[in-house]
Amino acid sequence: MQQVIGSPSRLRGAISLPGDKSISQRAFLLNAIAEGPAHVSNPCVGDDRESILRCLQGLGVSIVPCSRCAVGRTGEECFEIRGRGLNGLEEPADVLDSGNSGTTMRLLAGLLSGQPFLSVLSGDSSLRSRPMDRVVQPLVEMGARIMGRGGDSRAPLAIRGGDLRGISYTLPVASAQVKSCLLIAGLYAAGSSTILQPAASRDHTERLLRAMGADLQEDGLALTISPSSLAPVDVRVPGDISSSAFWLVAACCHPDAEVRIEGVGVNPTRAGVLEVLRSMGAEVRLENVREEGDEPVADIVAQSSELVGTEVAGDIVPQVIDELPVLAVAASVARGTTVIRDAAELRVKESDRIRSTVNGLTALGAIVEERPDGMVVQGVSNLTSGRTASDGDHRIAMAMAVAGLISRGDTVVSGAEAAGVSYPGFWDVLESISESGDRPAVLEAT
Ligand code: S3P
Repeated sequence: MQQVIGSPSRLRGAISLPGDKSISQRAFLLNAIAEGPAHVSNPCVGDDRESILRCLQGLGVSIVPCSRCAVGRTGEECFEIRGRGLNGLEEPADVLDSGNSGTTMRLLAGLLSGQPFLSVLSGDSSLRSRPMDRVVQPLVEMGARIMGRGGDSRAPLAIRGGDLRGISYTLPVASAQVKSCLLIAGLYAAGSSTILQPAASRDHTERLLRAMGADLQEDGLALTISPSSLAPVDVRVPGDISSSAFWLVAACCHPDAEVRIEGVGVNPTRAGVLEVLRSMGAEVRLENVREEGDEPVADIVAQSSELVGTEVAGDIVPQVIDELPVLAVAASVARGTTVIRDAAELRVKESDRIRSTVNGLTALGAIVEERPDGMVVQGVSNLTSGRTASDGDHRIAMAMAVAGLISRGDTVVSGAEAAGVSYPGFWDVLESISESGDRPAVLEAT
């Protein structure tokens, strides 16, 4: 699908987001091995959700829509997950298809390594090209038998689990997926497992495990988990801050904009996008900050701002990793230079996001230099019309749409359907906040 994005003269509106993808996936997976039923309301939407639900159902877990329950708000979507306990999963009859979802594959690899049966994990061509040795190697060290393509580094992965032993493991990259994979495997291992993180990454797994009564100790960046059964926990998922980033950048970069985004999860290990935007001089404020379940939540108001360049490097990178493509869009129209470093991980996401972002922005007249671990962006006063491509990556499709929204002229985003992986309603929101008059936001979808 190709979308042609115009240049609306004003952006206004209140936006409710789909539920946070990382929290939803963890809430589904951990409740699937809890000792009883639980509800997850306002879950994420899109293809990645279907991927994890399909895989858990393939392991014999019943997950059904629940129309009348008190966990979520009236009218909100909700699922009931019937937890089967740590040892109640069934050997899958077929390959478990993780689709495009790296979180599904890596967290499941940890879970399946604890099961005394054979599972095969696969995914789409993007996921099959992404590195899995980062989970395979420590899981094999714990005693799992895993084979995969490329010297056991790429999916499909065949996993025969069971009889795990605890390990002490230093993560080579600050990855929440790898950390979570090993914490889940640690629930099944004899003895305790300690995971040392080089920097803090999103901590949703830790929050949920604690809420479910797991024996999890934290000492700075070291996490130690011991085998524990899990109590089911109802979760009302807050709005996804990664999805909010597109509207925050659109509002801050547009000359006549104010948007309000309601009920966004602002967990400090995820809120790096707010910190980076503020360092660029963005007019972004939090209102109605509250705690919902085990996660901090707020409404965010963003408006037209005079942005300046910044540096994004070091420990903040894992906390803003998924937002870097759209932050590069903001940098492309900020005054001065923005340097993004220490972000080589972007090269092994759903696409090579350094290459995809640089190509897309360059096509729209931005001045961007590709670096092995990031990029250098020189702000220009305006982006121009041009043709961009999603490279099959949901966040690139949406980042390019935002670039189109703030550019002068019409922007083509090809492969725009990729947005459906995490945010199927993205294009409707884009239209709804555009007070178009003579220049509508979405000109054509083919
Ligand atoms: C995620 C962790 C991040 C992020 C991904 C979701 C998670 O990946 O990029 O979109 O839910 O744990 P890494 O852990 O590989 O950095």
